[in-house]
Amino acid sequence: MRGSTSFEPGSHRIEVRFVRHCGRFGDFGRTAANGRARDRIATGGRRYRVAMDERGQWLTDRLVLVTGGGRGLGSSIARAFAGQGAGVVLNYRRSRERAEALAAEIGDRALAVQADVTDEQQVHAMFETIAQRFDQPVTTVVNNALADFSFNGESRSHAGEIGWGEFDAQFRGSVSGALHTTRAALPQLRAQGTGQIINIGTNLFQRPVVPYHDYTAAKAALLSLTRTFAADLGPDGITVNMVSGGLLRTTDASADTPEEVFDGIAQATPLRRVVTPGEFADAVLFFASPWARAVSGQNLVVDGGLVNG
Ligand SMILES: NC(=O)c1ccc[n+]([C@@H]2O[C@H](COP(=O)([O-])OP(=O)(O)OC[C@H]3O[C@@H](n4cnc5c(N)ncnc54)[C@H](OP(=O)(O)O)[C@@H]3O)[C@@H](O)[C@H]2O)c1
Repeated sequence: MRGSTSFEPGSHRIEVRFVRHCGRFGDFGRTAANGRARDRIATGGRRYRVAMDERGQWLTDRLVLVTGGGRGLGSSIARAFAGQGAGVVLNYRRSRERAEALAAEIGDRALAVQADVTDEQQVHAMFETIAQRFDQPVTTVVNNALADFSFNGESRSHAGEIGWGEFDAQFRGSVSGALHTTRAALPQLRAQGTGQIINIGTNLFQRPVVPYHDYTAAKAALLSLTRTFAADLGPDGITVNMVSGGLLRTTDASADTPEEVFDGIAQATPLRRVVTPGEFADAVLFFASPWARAVSGQNLVVDGGLVNG
């Protein structure tokens, strides 16, 4: 199907062109069918491109950098994006073998790149490597990397013992990492007039039931940065959002969590279970999707309903 349609929701003029249609496209209400869909949406003078291929993948035009993508939640996020046809860059710091194995499993549209995200020069070098390998710019950055941490309340420092060194490590991992990747991505996101920064947070901000003072404070700072960057970068067409998890069953960081804690959280959770990394990763896709194009500065809690965001 070829053609175009336009209408005016609120103050924005939205124009959708159907090159060879099509699939059901959100609030535009088109009917699903087979074949490649390429819808172009212009909102307020800015163009959003949406592509669905014959396998029904919706993010084929995205190139997504996932920090800490070699293992843990990061590998689930990378798999989720790859499953929607996106190109994925699996950033790793030490887990070379796991990152390269996952990249090989995903195929041509995946690349494993080493960089310590707390080191700005390494992050810039990573973006150069990405630019050499892909014939498209990065569209989406997922700041997932977690500075070495074990989710076991018994092994964490309480208020009387914790020192600034522990806070410093978490702030460097969460805040400096996100700052470096966002700044390195900015020129190409601005040139595209669109882009998505997605930061990973925690529901301990709302429900601080364990003494993860350093970790939670750093994630709270990252939430603030999410909001101030959203305000700053919105005029460039760039959205900045956070997806916050509760305890996940299981990543390396949550492998030390006692079984009774998993059970207690499951019982207190409206869905009566602990969320998996795969389920969490699916929610991350939303903020990179065209359906979230008008959402910025938000914190989506993905924990089975335990905490009200
Ligand atoms: N697991 C949970 O229950 C849970 C709950 C809520 C939120 N989260 C969030 O999920 C995210 C991932 O946590 P996780 O549980 O998957 O942690 P994890 O299993 O400990 O994995 C940590 C990841 O971060 C990477 N990393 C650490 N420092 C890095 C650095 N300086 N530069 C680049 N990569 C670095 C590691 O890479 P290398 O191995 O290559 O060093 C690894 O891929 C975090 O943002 C965390 O706050 C997790």
